[in-house]
Amino acid sequence: MSEDYFEIRPILPADKIQIQVGLKMLSPESIRQRFFTNKKEFSEKELQFLTEVDQIHHLAYVAVHHKDGQQLPAGVIRAIKKSDMETHAEIGIVIVDCYQGMGLGKKLLDEVAARAVAVGITHFYGDYHTSNLKMTRLLDKFSKTRSPLLLKHTGDGFIYFEAPLKN
Ligand SMILES: CC(C)(COP(=O)(O)OP(=O)(O)OC[C@H]1O[C@@H](n2cnc3c(N)ncnc32)[C@H](O)[C@@H]1OP(=O)(O)O)[C@@H](O)C(=O)NCCC(=O)NCCS
Repeated sequence: MSEDYFEIRPILPADKIQIQVGLKMLSPESIRQRFFTNKKEFSEKELQFLTEVDQIHHLAYVAVHHKDGQQLPAGVIRAIKKSDMETHAEIGIVIVDCYQGMGLGKKLLDEVAARAVAVGITHFYGDYHTSNLKMTRLLDKFSKTRSPLLLKHTGDGFIYFEAPLKN
């Protein structure tokens, strides 16, 4: 029987290869939207930082596509507490292009938000480019059941957002 489903789970140190493979599967546009540069690969040190997380100060979850015995990277989200304000955590999220628009971004955001509330985080924040409609829509969807988003144009083509995790 064929296998075809998505798993959302905390990231593991053993995900280093998957993270590297996932980066190679992204379009240049998604790479720019996520990293704001033309990132080609992660160094060993970066992979360690990205996958060896405590899930308290640095939360990270992955979406994995299980397909016929293979495990394909589909997305990753992280929330890193601000060092001088631990109630606020910066969000970084990317879904591999072929899986965008299927609800995985919303699922990852909800999952990390539940964990964030449990470790004392009250707000997510971050920046995205004004042209990034998918992120605008994702945040709109996320904040529908929560207190309203704060959005600020930063004047350099970016939008700063703050999303309360409760209503
Ligand atoms: C932004 C991003 C994380 C959204 O994740 P996603 O899994 O595609 O989003 P979801 O499927 O959960 O949908 C959220 C909303 O985004 C919109 N959306 C997602 N993909 C879309 C697409 N390809 N075209 C148009 N709208 C899209 C949908 O309108 C959806 O809302 P709806 O269900 O009410 O229509 C994803 O598009 C992505 O990885 N983009 C590149 C990286 C990035 O921009 N990161 C954000 C800065 S850190």
